Amino acid sequence: MRFATTISSLVPLALAAIAFAGPTPLDVFSPPITFPTAGTVLVSKTQTTIAWNATGAPVNISNKALLMLRKGDLTAPFILAEGFDLRTGSLDITVPNVLADTDYEFVLFGDSGNFSPTFTIQSDVPA
Ligand SMILES: *[C@@H]1O[C@H](CO)[C@@H](O)[C@H](O)[C@H]1NC(C)=O
Ligand SMILES: *[C@@H]1O[C@H](CO)[C@@H](O)[C@H](O)[C@H]1NC(C)=O
Repeated sequence: MRFATTISSLVPLALAAIAFAGPTPLDVFSPPITFPTAGTVLVSKTQTTIAWNATGAPVNISNKALLMLRKGDLTAPFILAEGFDLRTGSLDITVPNVLADTDYEFVLFGDSGNFSPTFTIQSDVPA
């Protein structure tokens, strides 16, 4: 009962969101990350270049570009970059100074968010 009520109350909201998309909807683009690859080791506070396949990128991309860091099952609200051009296919970033571990991923938005393969971030301080 409660579930049905919730769903039906959301429908008008969803329709309103579509109506607000405007008269000329832009293209959605969700490119796959090509670097880092599985097993890449990045070092905190060093420069690296995140890359994705921008082949076939539409001229007008509607979705806002956003790069986030994910650890394990958590996509923390850790925004590494935003507002960059998804059509360029790469972005230079400084690897954040986070706990050294082997279960990091980048999430590129994109549309719904593309996850990179899992990679390692090492401390910049020798063990
Ligand atoms: C990039 O995407 C295009 C279009 O989907 C595909 O044809 C091409 O093989 C991809 N290239 C790489 C390096 O993944
Ligand atoms: C991209 O957007 C511009 C400005 O709104 C528009 O003039 C142009 O026709 C659009 N191009 C495509 C391919 O949709």
